[in-house]
Amino acid sequence: MSTLRGAPAGVFELKRSSSGQGLQVDKERYTSEEDDRRTSAGDLPQGESEYEEEEEVDETVREDMSKLEDTFPGISERFRLINRIGEGTFSTVYKAEDLLYNHYHNDWDIFGQAQEREQEQEEWDNPPSKRRRVDGASGGRKKARFVALKKIYVTSSPIRIQNELELLHDLRGCKSVCPLITAFRYQDQVVAVLPYFPHTDFRIQYRTFMVADMRHYLRSLITALKSVHEHEILHRDIKPTNFLYNPDLKEGVLVDFGLAERQGSEYSSPCLCSHQNYVRRSRILSSYFSKNPPANGLSGGYPKADSRPSRRANRAGTRGFRAPEVLFKCTSQTTKIDMWSVGVILLTLLGRRFPFFNSADDIDAMIEMSSIFGTRRMKTAAAMHGQIFETNLPTIGEKGYSWEKLVKWSSCVEDLTESESQATRLLAGLMELDPSKRLSADEALNHEFFTDPVLHDVEWGGNPEEGSVDSEEEDEAGEDEADEVAML
Ligand SMILES: Nc1ncnc2c1ncn2[C@@H]1O[C@H](COP(=O)(O)OP(=O)(O)OP(=O)(O)O)[C@@H](O)[C@H]1O
Ligand SMILES: [Mg+2]
Repeated sequence: MSTLRGAPAGVFELKRSSSGQGLQVDKERYTSEEDDRRTSAGDLPQGESEYEEEEEVDETVREDMSKLEDTFPGISERFRLINRIGEGTFSTVYKAEDLLYNHYHNDWDIFGQAQEREQEQEEWDNPPSKRRRVDGASGGRKKARFVALKKIYVTSSPIRIQNELELLHDLRGCKSVCPLITAFRYQDQVVAVLPYFPHTDFRIQYRTFMVADMRHYLRSLITALKSVHEHEILHRDIKPTNFLYNPDLKEGVLVDFGLAERQGSEYSSPCLCSHQNYVRRSRILSSYFSKNPPANGLSGGYPKADSRPSRRANRAGTRGFRAPEVLFKCTSQTTKIDMWSVGVILLTLLGRRFPFFNSADDIDAMIEMSSIFGTRRMKTAAAMHGQIFETNLPTIGEKGYSWEKLVKWSSCVEDLTESESQATRLLAGLMELDPSKRLSADEALNHEFFTDPVLHDVEWGGNPEEGSVDSEEEDEAGEDEADEVAML
């Protein structure tokens, strides 16, 4: 990664070759030229001009982009800002055209280069003389190359920003992980430059996914995680908006390493879960709670002025996607926390509900979890991390429910198809309370769901006896029914 320090003048010249001098870009050009919200099904990779449409850019977005250009005066010579494409907790992301693409080695551009090779092959097979000339189809303007400019909020701590950029740098070349092209800074404003990846909004696609689509989605996501985990890095924020999936390519890229960390980088005493079983058992048996069992099965509450130091653990992540050990404040969290979140995505897809979990805080999240797992398994899970789980909510049973039952209830179907049952078995392996028993990325990729898939697939709510149907009809039917269920 090269770091371009943003400076009031000439900073981009550091990397600009002399032939780039002519690339003066009119600021107003970013207003309407291209469709940058390609978030519907059918998105294509960079530079597919048939998808480029005129679009009005909102006034606030224009102001925003103009401010970015004021902060980095040379930016217009390097990037043509197009639109704001994301507004997260930590950053605003803009789509821009990379005007100096051809001045650099672009090893990161796996998709763009693959397309180029295909095009070259086609030109080789059909030399220009034999081809019918179509207006604008040959010669002239170079293919537009797009990037995503992630403007990290100045309120983010420098250590956090450095961490994100460093981890992305370490992960360069990993399949399905969005590479970092470069980054630049002016005072406290940092901008990371990433390749723009056209993708479909998860909220649009999840209801239309057949099991085969889920398989492509998950294979790509888990492949990304396999490489991340091999580097002993925890992403910590696996959720649909951080995995940009393109259904045409059947590939996605993992983004947003803002909360990522290296495994074991938290300096606190190891959690009970990292000890051998016998050590764990003896510690639990010698605890105050075990020696003074509460009468009638429930403890008398908790001390008002608890003098014990509160337990601290990294709880970074997004509500609804946090693994149980994160909620139990485990101090030895591993890459398995990401696999739980993958399970939540699969549950969303199979259950046809997004968000599946909708808790206001961690206590709520634990209640949601215990409604599924039941108190018995929650107590065991808590004890593993040296915690005590108790609830007197009458709606939470002791035994909990099977995943199969839950998926059926949630998706409002009477029976699961064979392929859904197979996906549900993968779900059980991912949403395992005990992180040591939960599937790793590598194990998940070797699950029968990927290695020996049941290919018989029917649209959601269709008759399990019927095979797949024509895709257009299937999409419409799927969406209508999905709306009905979403409103329940
Ligand atoms: N390379 C990219 N290509 C296309 N869109 C992108 C790219 N990177 C980010 N985005 C868009 O910007 C959004 C926010 O990006 P990102 O998750 O990196 O920022 P964030 O501020 O950490 O977000 P949040 O806090 O919501 O997770 C993404 O959900 C996506 O829609
Ligand atoms: Mg994000």
